[in-house]
Amino acid sequence: MNKRLDRKPDLFPHTFHEPDQPEAPLFTSVDDVSARLAETGYLASPAVATTVFLADRLGKPLLVEGPAGVGKTELAKAVAEVAGARLVRLQCYEGVDESRALYEWNHAKQLLRISAGRDETWDEARTDIFSEEFLLPRPLLTAIRGDDPKVLLIDETDKADVEVEGLLLEVLSDFQVTVPELGTVTATRRPFVVLTSNASRELSEALRRRCLFLHIGFPDEELERRIVRLKVPGLTEALTESVVRVVGALRAMDLRKVPSVAETIDWARTLLALGADTLDEQVVRDSLGVILKHQDDIQKAAAKLDLDAL
Ligand SMILES: Nc1ncnc2c1ncn2[C@@H]1O[C@H](COP(=O)(O)OP(=O)(O)O)[C@@H](O)[C@H]1O
Ligand SMILES: [Mg+2]
Repeated sequence: MNKRLDRKPDLFPHTFHEPDQPEAPLFTSVDDVSARLAETGYLASPAVATTVFLADRLGKPLLVEGPAGVGKTELAKAVAEVAGARLVRLQCYEGVDESRALYEWNHAKQLLRISAGRDETWDEARTDIFSEEFLLPRPLLTAIRGDDPKVLLIDETDKADVEVEGLLLEVLSDFQVTVPELGTVTATRRPFVVLTSNASRELSEALRRRCLFLHIGFPDEELERRIVRLKVPGLTEALTESVVRVVGALRAMDLRKVPSVAETIDWARTLLALGADTLDEQVVRDSLGVILKHQDDIQKAAAKLDLDAL
């Protein structure tokens, strides 16, 4: 056995320890998921509520794919809030690597420690500088250590390089991380894991197999109206309906970037701020920049949108 582990047995208290029992489930039913997410301000479609329920029951990571702004990140935050859990977030980007995702050593502190202890042998110093005190845990390690409940959000997974998927797969298979100098940490309490992806590239089959898959698309009109009512309570019912209908019409157009739920909410807030009481052509033209982010989209929409026909 590793000598350093003998020396400091309390550093990784859960070393070589398998979880005894599955965690108590967070939710009692699909309706319970919907109701409690709603309390935090997240309105789940039946598909979302069902998959979250299953992910919790089966103890599987949830892979959420869909366009930007449909509430993928927000879902993970809402689950954390409901669970009274800490949200541990690994934001993926091109170039994210093990040292950013898993752990790294605090080199500056190690150097200071070595120069402070000049009389020591290298072996003595080495034992010390590869100990807990000099370890910088990153999200994946943080998420599997300790007994407090956690939600691990691996956000925008498709932005990471393919090699990182191997690492994710390893961690999500065993909920184990090995730090060669310290030993193996095994989660005693598995986090609820949410991976999100914009599908800018396909994630590997192996990673998909490990997860429960959920596609979140644009909400239907009824759900989107409920979201607007919840997020922008001051808006009149008539305007709420118009906003959702116009956004729906824009989504049906061939635009470079169609508006998402985030834009619907922004637009509703804008109309409230403008004190508009109906969506006439003037109001739409003046505020289209809130929902469309390309000039050619704005021109196309202004030409094609027929408010009377909606
Ligand atoms: N079902 C929903 N219920 C409540 N708010 C939502 C919902 N879907 C989207 N939103 C809102 O839309 C915005 C964008 O959500 P976000 O999670 O950042 O999108 P994504 O991660 O899919 O790009 C957030 O402000 C969020 O509150
Ligand atoms: Mg997001």
